[in-house]
Amino acid sequence: MTLTPWWRDAVVYEVYVRSFADSDGNGEGDLQGIRSRLGYLRDLGVDALWLTPFYTSPLADGGYDVADYRDVDPRFGTLRDFDALVADVHAHGLRLIVDIVPNHSSDRHPWFREALAAPPGSPARSRYIFRPGKPGERPGEERPPNDWPSAFGGPAWTRTDDGEWYLHLYAREQPDFNWRNPEVRSEFEEILRFWLDRGVDGFRIDVAAGLFKDASFRDLGGQDRRASDGPIYSRPEVHDVYRRWRRILDEYDGDRMAIGEVWTDGPEDLALYLRPDELHQVFQFDLQLASWSATQFRDVATAAMKAVAPTGAAPTWVLSSHDSIRHVTRYERPESVPGIGYARAKAALLMLLALPGSAYLYQGEELGLPEVLDLPDEARQDPIWERTNRRLAGRDGCRVPLPWAGTAEPYGFSPDGVRPWLPMPRDWASRTAEAQASDPSSMLAFYREALALRRRMANDLPDDLEWLDSPETAVFFRRGPLTCALNCGENPVRLPPGTPLLTSTPLYGDLLPGNTGCLLESGPTAA
Ligand code: NOJ
Repeated sequence: MTLTPWWRDAVVYEVYVRSFADSDGNGEGDLQGIRSRLGYLRDLGVDALWLTPFYTSPLADGGYDVADYRDVDPRFGTLRDFDALVADVHAHGLRLIVDIVPNHSSDRHPWFREALAAPPGSPARSRYIFRPGKPGERPGEERPPNDWPSAFGGPAWTRTDDGEWYLHLYAREQPDFNWRNPEVRSEFEEILRFWLDRGVDGFRIDVAAGLFKDASFRDLGGQDRRASDGPIYSRPEVHDVYRRWRRILDEYDGDRMAIGEVWTDGPEDLALYLRPDELHQVFQFDLQLASWSATQFRDVATAAMKAVAPTGAAPTWVLSSHDSIRHVTRYERPESVPGIGYARAKAALLMLLALPGSAYLYQGEELGLPEVLDLPDEARQDPIWERTNRRLAGRDGCRVPLPWAGTAEPYGFSPDGVRPWLPMPRDWASRTAEAQASDPSSMLAFYREALALRRRMANDLPDDLEWLDSPETAVFFRRGPLTCALNCGENPVRLPPGTPLLTSTPLYGDLLPGNTGCLLESGPTAA
């Protein structure tokens, strides 16, 4: 009998480490904080945790700027804490995925310090991407080597003191590695082994499509930055890296896995990463990008499943992450009927969990947290804020620390009296995990119930689904014994056949109210 590998239908909970739980009172979450809340995650019913970077970092981009890939930043703990966390995660019956950031390092990484101190053309510089600039309009003026923009605003190049420019697809504190240099390759292979030896179950690969740039460094010339036939992402050479990584993962026992953060404009391109000797999963952001619309949900889910079908990999689904506006708030737009985003988020969870494949949840969505839209300017830390000259607020609003208990900041996130690294809203007393745990009508109770239902049925659900006829405002689909109905409209619709098991708002007889989801035990199929 072949067992389904754990990740294929896992529910993975993203822990944004800095904002999860602060055990030592420095206002930032840490590994011991996570350890102390593993019971909460087990009881929630998830299968695995994905930790965002906790490595040594000046946190110019929340830790996605790594200065030492083999150590824990002191603000988050120590390697001993990490080892203890791995052991405890496993003892709780959970798995652990860690982030790996291979596209760029911090500008404080010893290699980059060395590169800056070394002359142009030196081996130290060849670990990164240094290029001469181009002549500017006026005499003596210089332009960057090409027209590539940084994903965070402004150009992707910064000029060094000696006149060479270095590439950074993100903040200037995040210089891009030169993956054509074999030293970079072997360094990352060793880093993978370092964490695999410590017992991690998988990796989430940051900017997985970005490692190789087109050797010509040609201008984008108006082409989309992320285009899979553009010069920046998804160059064919990247696949060789993942083939080598896959071989390393396969050397270890226990179904170690890798999921790539692959932003691409084409399903064919996405599928390349999922060839049997490459990555196990890629993030599919389609649901996250869709608006509250039955037609859109059906279309994007169909396309997402079609994209991975030829590879045999299972799809992945996500509604929120540390990079996007929380879906409670997203679903409130463009209307702003109070509470509608909350009701929709509840309903959407049932679709997310009923779809085949695995689901990635973002910390705090189980508490129904909204985006914090009114952070004071001086509190904002996301580099997007400054790099866009304060035009775009950035991603801090979804990274506000979790409220655990109590009635005022820090809501049990930090010890009393400590100010968390981002201010927490005044009206979160009813949103704490503690307040919700004892309230059967809370979002937390609903998440627990939905996850328990999914777990109970997991073994009986086929890999594929069948769309059922539905009114235009609704999506109905069936996976063997389970039927999912989601009504994105405002008016009630008649439920598909079956016995309701869980609903996001009370049914009216056999009617499914607007902005409501329902899971049913499937009724008999039409003869
Ligand atoms: C994707 C990460 O999720 C995001 O937070 C980060 O800013 C960029 N990659 C750059 O590392």
